[in-house]
Amino acid sequence: MADILPFTPESVHRACKLLRGEQCVVMPTETVYGLAGNGLCDRSVARIFEIKQRPSFDPLILHIPEGFGLSDICNPTETARVLMEAFWPGPLTVLLEKKACVPDLVTSGLPTVAVRCPAHPVAQELLRSFGGPLAAPSANRFGRISPTTAQAALEELGDRLEVILEGGPCEKGLESTIVNGTGSTPTILRKGAIPIETIREIFPDVSHDKPHHEVIAPGQLDSHYAPSTPLYRTDRPLAEFALLPDSCAYLLWSGKGMKTMPSTYRILSDQGDAKEAASRLFQALRELDHEGKPIFCEPVPSHAEGIGGLGGVEKSGGLGGLGEAIQDRLNRASGGIRNPGEL
Ligand code: TXA
Ligand code: MG
Repeated sequence: MADILPFTPESVHRACKLLRGEQCVVMPTETVYGLAGNGLCDRSVARIFEIKQRPSFDPLILHIPEGFGLSDICNPTETARVLMEAFWPGPLTVLLEKKACVPDLVTSGLPTVAVRCPAHPVAQELLRSFGGPLAAPSANRFGRISPTTAQAALEELGDRLEVILEGGPCEKGLESTIVNGTGSTPTILRKGAIPIETIREIFPDVSHDKPHHEVIAPGQLDSHYAPSTPLYRTDRPLAEFALLPDSCAYLLWSGKGMKTMPSTYRILSDQGDAKEAASRLFQALRELDHEGKPIFCEPVPSHAEGIGGLGGVEKSGGLGGLGEAIQDRLNRASGGIRNPGEL
C-alpha cells in the first residue's frame, strides 16, 4: 500500500526520486489530487495510463512550475499569455500547439497540448524540485470519482504506487477549466473551477466549444466521475418529495426546505454557496458511495428554475458557471433522471 507522506523536504525528495526513476506519485493540487509522472518521458506517461486503466485516446495535462519556459513545450499565443497572466498559478488549463518534445502519448496524437500551472504549494514545490513538466490526470481509476483528499487517492490507487503527498482537502474540489488558447478568443472545452463569467471579464466573447467527436476527454465522455452504487438525478428538489425511502441515500444542495431529513444524506452547502458546494461535491459522493445505497441528487438550483420549486434556495442566487460545472459532473456521474419511489 502507498504511504501518505506529510509535506517535508524529505517527502518531496523521495517523490522526485521516484519520478526520475520513471515511477508515478500522487500530488495534491488546488482542484483534485493528480497522478503525476514525467511528462516528457514515454515510459512514465505509459505508466500513468496503466495505473489509471485509462484508454490511451484520452490526452493528459502537463503541469509546470511557476516561471517555466513555456515555449520549450508549446507555442504560446497572445491569448494564452493574457489568460496565464490573469489565472496562473491556478485552476485554468490552456490548450496550445505542442512542440516535438511532448510525447504523442501525452496528447493522444493531437497537435495541441494541455498546460496548467497549479497553485497548490505542494504541487509547486514538487514541480520546482523535479524541474520539468509533470503529466497528471486526476488520481482516480478511470471513470471514477476524482479524489479531493489524500485518503481518497489512497482508496483509488494505493495498491498501485508508493507515494501519495499529503496536501489537505482540495480547496476547489472541481477540476480545472480547460480552454483552447490557440485562437484570438479562448473557447471553453471543459467547465471547471474557474467559471466562464470570470473569463468573460477579460475576453467578453469567450464561449463554450461545441463538443466535437474528435476530442475525447474524460470530462467529455458521458459516463464519468461515477460512484460504484447507482446515482440518479431527480427532476425537482428533494424537498418536494413526500417520501424519501431510507433504503436510498441523498445528496442535497443546501437542505433548505426539507421537512424531515432522510436517514442517509450529505449537504453540499448549508448556505447554498456554489464554491463551498464544489469543494465538497466529490467527497460527499464518495462518502455516500460507501453507504452502498442507491443515491439521488437534486438539480443544482440554477438548473432547477423552470422545473419547479427551489427547495428553499433563492431564485436570484445566480450560481452561474460554477453551478453549471457542478451540474455537469452530476450529469456525467449519474445514470439519468429518476425520482425516489421509481426504483
Ligand atoms: O484540475 C485538473 O485539471 C486535474 C489536476 C490533477 O490538475 N487534472 C485533470 O486531468 O482533471 P484529467 O486527465 O482527469 O483531465 C484532463 C482533460 C481531459 O478531459 C482530456 O481529454 C483533456 O484534459 N485534454 C488534455 N489534452 C487535450 C487536448 N490536447 N485536446 C483536448 N482535450 C485535452
Ligand atoms: Mg479525471
